Amino acid sequence: MSNPASPLGLLDPGRQLAFPPGFRWGAATAAYQIEGAAHEGGRTPSIWDTFSHTEGRTVAGHTGDVACDHYHRMPDDVRLMAELGLTSYRFSISWPRVQPGGTGPANQEGLDFYRRLVDELLAHGIEPWLTLYHWDLAQPLEDTGGWPARDTAGRFADYAQLVADALGDRVRYWTTLNEPWCSAFLGYGSGVHAPGRSDGADAVRAGHHLMLGHGLAVQALRASRPEAQLGITLNLYPVTPATDADSDIDAARRIDGLANRFFLDPVLRGWYPADLTADLRRVSDFGHVRDGDLEIISTPLDLVGVNYYSRHVVAAPVPLAEPEAYWRGPSCWPGSEDVRFVTRGIPVTDMDWEIDAPGLVETLERVHRDYTDLPLYVTENGSAFVDRLVDGRVDDPERLAYFDAHLRAAHAAISAGVPLKGYFAWSLLDNFEWAFGYTKRFGMVYVDYDNQARIPKSSARWYADVIRRNGLAA
Ligand code: NOJ
Repeated sequence: MSNPASPLGLLDPGRQLAFPPGFRWGAATAAYQIEGAAHEGGRTPSIWDTFSHTEGRTVAGHTGDVACDHYHRMPDDVRLMAELGLTSYRFSISWPRVQPGGTGPANQEGLDFYRRLVDELLAHGIEPWLTLYHWDLAQPLEDTGGWPARDTAGRFADYAQLVADALGDRVRYWTTLNEPWCSAFLGYGSGVHAPGRSDGADAVRAGHHLMLGHGLAVQALRASRPEAQLGITLNLYPVTPATDADSDIDAARRIDGLANRFFLDPVLRGWYPADLTADLRRVSDFGHVRDGDLEIISTPLDLVGVNYYSRHVVAAPVPLAEPEAYWRGPSCWPGSEDVRFVTRGIPVTDMDWEIDAPGLVETLERVHRDYTDLPLYVTENGSAFVDRLVDGRVDDPERLAYFDAHLRAAHAAISAGVPLKGYFAWSLLDNFEWAFGYTKRFGMVYVDYDNQARIPKSSARWYADVIRRNGLAA
């Protein structure tokens, strides 16, 4: 029944912040972060196996060899999701598990694992959300050039087709890439992620070929599964100038170009922003962009996934009198290394990321206002905090407050007219946090890595209640 005080029906008579009927409540994970079983079932190494096994690349040399052992515990993990009341679950496919080496025939044993996962989800009434690429490129494809090489885009489309053939009859929601900014600029720019290369021009090429692979994959999926809902997941940030000085405003424009518009504009508008290519002129002449690429990259989608964690606040380059303040060494901001990232002294998570829920509203409103009418989904949002297992319980009030604040922000965005259709908490489980290994815990469910026990934290119980009521107490 509609409520006259709330034309959208978002504030129900019991004074709760209700989400629209059918809103999707999920949690997200990624293959390398949870599966383990690195050498089982025909899987071959990815760039993250190589990287994490290279000395000095991850904290304490942690690897994803075992991770959360999800490969062996999958049915129990799905049961846990059902107990929490999740209506959707976002996971990724390990490319080298289903197509060893990244080219050639499928590995049936690998596909069977994901088929069992999908069937188990469906049996529990949980909608599977499949991500094709969450950073685990097959190592042989890196050896032949990786994402800076154009050929990798074609290989990705072949792999997408292989997965569509195997799972297209039972998976409706697909995203191609997860956070291509990280793959390109952390993987090939600063080198803090696999494959650990640091060359600005390569990062720019990688970004382009990731998007080209995305476009080709969308075309392949669309042709073989016209009913599938297709999208991409981007990590987006509001970029705010530290002051209203023109130089700070220009710094914000530059970082916004690299962090956000590098991907938003090609995918959703079919071009690279002119100011971005001008800023990058010293780094890349964009000679790798061929005629027709941007048409492929901007192949129409059905949805856009937004991963949101924090805001960037930036200031102009420091004057040369303070050279020690300049960023030195390889950078994930090619051409803009001298822009300063400013902290505001507001509370941060264990990643040192500032907690800024209004930034989620800004981000969603911007994508909707400036780029697309498509349905939007928060495909990741969450926080790492130091958790302690005490008497078999984990109390995580800070994580709970983080979720609560960001869900209120999501609700505000919907009230403002953003077609936000779902929210996926990052993450279901504590897991392998890339270069930080197991030292950062993002899960709603605590993982005791000594015995692989799963212990829902208080935030998980709270989230289950939110899902049950489809809303938050007002
Ligand atoms: C984004 C990535 O998609 C995910 O893999 C990562 O663990 C979270 N952010 C937290 O850093």
